[in-house]
Amino acid sequence: MISLHDLRQLKAQGKKFSCLTCYDASMAKAMQVAGIDSILIGDSLGMTIQGHDSTLPVTVADMAYHTAAVRRANQHAFLMTDLPFMSYATLNDALQNSRMVMQAGAQMVKIEGGAWLADTVKNLTRNGIPVCMHLGLTPQSVHVFGGYKLQAKTRDAADQLIEDCRALVEAGAAMLLLECVPAQLGKEVTELFPHIPVIGIGAGKDTDGQVLVVQDMLGLTFGKVAKFVRNFMAEQSGEHAIVDALKSYHQAVLEQSFPNIEHTFQVEL
Ligand code: KIV
Repeated sequence: MISLHDLRQLKAQGKKFSCLTCYDASMAKAMQVAGIDSILIGDSLGMTIQGHDSTLPVTVADMAYHTAAVRRANQHAFLMTDLPFMSYATLNDALQNSRMVMQAGAQMVKIEGGAWLADTVKNLTRNGIPVCMHLGLTPQSVHVFGGYKLQAKTRDAADQLIEDCRALVEAGAAMLLLECVPAQLGKEVTELFPHIPVIGIGAGKDTDGQVLVVQDMLGLTFGKVAKFVRNFMAEQSGEHAIVDALKSYHQAVLEQSFPNIEHTFQVEL
């Protein structure tokens, strides 16, 4: 099973790693066959599985249920699980709710926010729970942003995000995930923290890992698809098309042919 240490080693060797969201056993098995390095049991399941229009209705029990299903079927990938909306608002909530998803099989929890969560990160880490911090476009704050939009578009905003990362890493954050930010900022953050794997979704080609929502990269998203998505299913045919699409994504991330310039936000900071 891939560990956090393995992901750190990949970063130290300048190698990239793949990550996809996953919520069920069949897809988790397909990802094991395809060799996907890491899996995010994302609260995006509120939309992809439950049919809501945001991640806000998702509960800790939902996250634990889907984490257990994925872990049973996949013994290869590193697993991280989102703590859903308002489930880490106090230090004690964060601790108790992390316990639920870690005992269900997660190797790390992911929470959304900046420097104001440093005490939460410190407390979780002290209690043996590795934390990935999600910054940039944080979907649990969609109503604060007024929509799913590019973040950190100016030098000042980018510097603020970097300061948040610094405070969180000092507090013990073991991984960073950047969503929907300029490619230049993805590169800066990745280079600034040599021991912290940085995963990107719409954060350019230079982050250590790439993540996509699996339904997006399999062409199962109806309506508007984000700029950073590539449909890997479109290139496949035959009876193993889904596993082949997953393999193709894994290869493209490792050899850095995905994302290319058309999937990234080119903003001069
Ligand atoms: O919940 C999720 O799928 C996520 C990804 C968009 C990174 O947080």
